[in-house]
Amino acid sequence: MEIQIHNPLDMHVHLRDADMMSVVAPLTSKYFSWALVMPNLVPPVMNTADAIWYRQRIESLTGNDNFTPFMTLFFHEWLTREILEKAKDHIMWIKLYPAWITTNSEGWVKSVLSEKAKEIFGIMEELGIVLHIHGETGDFVMDREANFMPNYLEIAKAFPNLTIIMEHITTKAAADTLDMFPNLYATITLQHLEITLDDVAGWALKPHLFCKPIAKRYEDRDALLELALSAHPKVSFGSDSAPHPQHTKECPGCAAGVFSAPISLQVLAQIFDRAGKLDNLQKFVSDNAVNIYKITPNTKTVILEKKDFVIPEKYWDVVPYRAGETIDWSIKEVK
Ligand code: NCD
Ligand code: ZN
Repeated sequence: MEIQIHNPLDMHVHLRDADMMSVVAPLTSKYFSWALVMPNLVPPVMNTADAIWYRQRIESLTGNDNFTPFMTLFFHEWLTREILEKAKDHIMWIKLYPAWITTNSEGWVKSVLSEKAKEIFGIMEELGIVLHIHGETGDFVMDREANFMPNYLEIAKAFPNLTIIMEHITTKAAADTLDMFPNLYATITLQHLEITLDDVAGWALKPHLFCKPIAKRYEDRDALLELALSAHPKVSFGSDSAPHPQHTKECPGCAAGVFSAPISLQVLAQIFDRAGKLDNLQKFVSDNAVNIYKITPNTKTVILEKKDFVIPEKYWDVVPYRAGETIDWSIKEVK
C-alpha cells in the first residue's frame, strides 16, 4: 500500500545553528515543503536582520531541496511599530515564550498580559502578523498548560483579528479551548499523539521522550488524537522537533526536546493508518496550514509505502524519537 502526501508542512521546528544545524536542517528540508523555524537560538532571533541572516545560513544547507524556511521573531518587549513594520515584508510570525519556561527562553517575557505586550499584540493585529505562543505558566508541571488557557482567551477576545497559535498543545483543556474563539488555532506534535507521562517517567526514565510541555494523561492524548485524526480545520502539524546532543539528554539536568524531523511523516502515517484515518493525513500535515496561513507552499510530493522501517539509533550526535524501533511505514520517494 502507498500514499502520497503533497507539500508536507512542519509548522514548528527547531533547526538550531552551526554543526547541529548542518545535520538537522537537511533532514527537514528533504521531506517537508516548508517549515516554520523557531527563533530560540542563543541569542534569540530578535529582529529582521537576525532572521534574514539565519535564513541565509539555513538556505546554504537546504538550497537544493525545494524547501522554504519561514522565519519567526522572538517576542520581546522592545518590539516597536517601526521594527514590526520593517519585519512585516520578511516575517509574518512571532513566537512568544514566557520567561524560563523552556529551552533558551530565559528571562525575556515576565508577563504575557503586560501593557507593553498588549500594545505589541495590537500592532501585530493591525499588520497581520501571527502570534505563536508557548502556552505554559510556571505552576505545577502537569497544570502549566491548562492554567495558561485564560491568557489565550483574554488575548483572543481583546484582539479579535490577531491570529493566535496555541503551540504544541498537550491537554484536553487546550483542545476544549480551541473552538471558543475564531482566531485561536493550534499545532500538535508527533510525540503528544502517542505518549503520556507514563512513557516518560512511569517506569525507567526516558530522557529522549522528555520535552516541554511534558506529555500528560491518557485522556489528554486521546483529545489530541481526536483533533488530529479528524483533521480539525484549526489544527496543523508542528513537529516541535528539538534536537539536543546525546550527552545533554542522557545526564542529570536533561535538556527538554524530542527529535522527530526525519521520522515524523512515517510515524504519522502509522498512527493515521492504524486508526483507519489515512485520508485525513493530507489535511493535518498540509492543507489545514495552507488554509490557516493563506500560503502557497513549494510543490513537493512524498510517497510513503507500508513497509517496515527501522528508525536509526542516531543521527550524528542526536538520538531520535523511537530510536531503534521498527515502524510500519517508510518513505519510498520524494519528488
Ligand atoms: C524546545 C527546544 O529544545 O528548543 N524544547 C522542547 O522541549 N520542546 C523548546 C520548546 O519548543 O519548548
Ligand atoms: Zn518548540
